[in-house]
Amino acid sequence: MRVEIRAPRHSDADLYRAAVTRSREHIGEWNPYEPEGLPDLVHRQGETLRTFLILDREDGGLVGSCNVANIVRGRFCNGALGYTSYVPYAGTGRMTEGLQLVVDTCFRARERGGLGLHRLEINVRPENKRSLAMVERLGFRHEGFSPRMLFLDNAWRDHERFALTVEEWPGLPPQ
Ligand SMILES: CC(C)(COP(=O)(O)OP(=O)(O)OC[C@H]1O[C@@H](n2cnc3c(N)ncnc32)[C@H](O)[C@@H]1OP(=O)(O)O)[C@@H](O)C(=O)NCCC(=O)NCCS
Repeated sequence: MRVEIRAPRHSDADLYRAAVTRSREHIGEWNPYEPEGLPDLVHRQGETLRTFLILDREDGGLVGSCNVANIVRGRFCNGALGYTSYVPYAGTGRMTEGLQLVVDTCFRARERGGLGLHRLEINVRPENKRSLAMVERLGFRHEGFSPRMLFLDNAWRDHERFALTVEEWPGLPPQ
């Protein structure tokens, strides 16, 4: 693994702002562009939202970020992944490695430092080829199509729905 993951902290605000700012074109219309968003993200961390920063092990740069949102416990134990990679690491395979670590952490038992979730979902706009490729690399299973699912880029957007349960996750080899 060329990357590691950890929770965001207030001291990451400058790192985050710089990464998001230089990635404006790369993020495009797919996710909101919020270079000043880190403090609010840190503030909102809790039972229903956990964010992971993906960092390059060699130079400490911000490779990407991933939100595990809408976490529901009880009989569902489910979370929804949303993610963005940042320039200059986008397209180098590091984001895929980081998301594999995130999935692994989500499925790991709580007593072993994980989130103890049973199911993860990823919802992707049909036009978002790079994210569809990511979902495939991660091994998520196509579940269906939801018209007008999320309000993005000023309109209600259709999404393809993908999911994975812990039974389908092979786990990562020990580091
Ligand atoms: C979707 C998104 C997160 C994908 O991230 P990414 O930067 O492409 O992911 P990676 O860095 O893992 O790149 C994988 C690509 O790098 C290539 N690659 C280059 N070197 C590699 C290496 N050493 N190992 C593995 N892959 C490598 C792969 O072939 C792959 O390219 P391909 O998709 O053309 O086949 C990114 O495009 C993004 O942030 N988009 C904007 C926001 C967004 O759409 N979010 C998702 C909303 S649902």
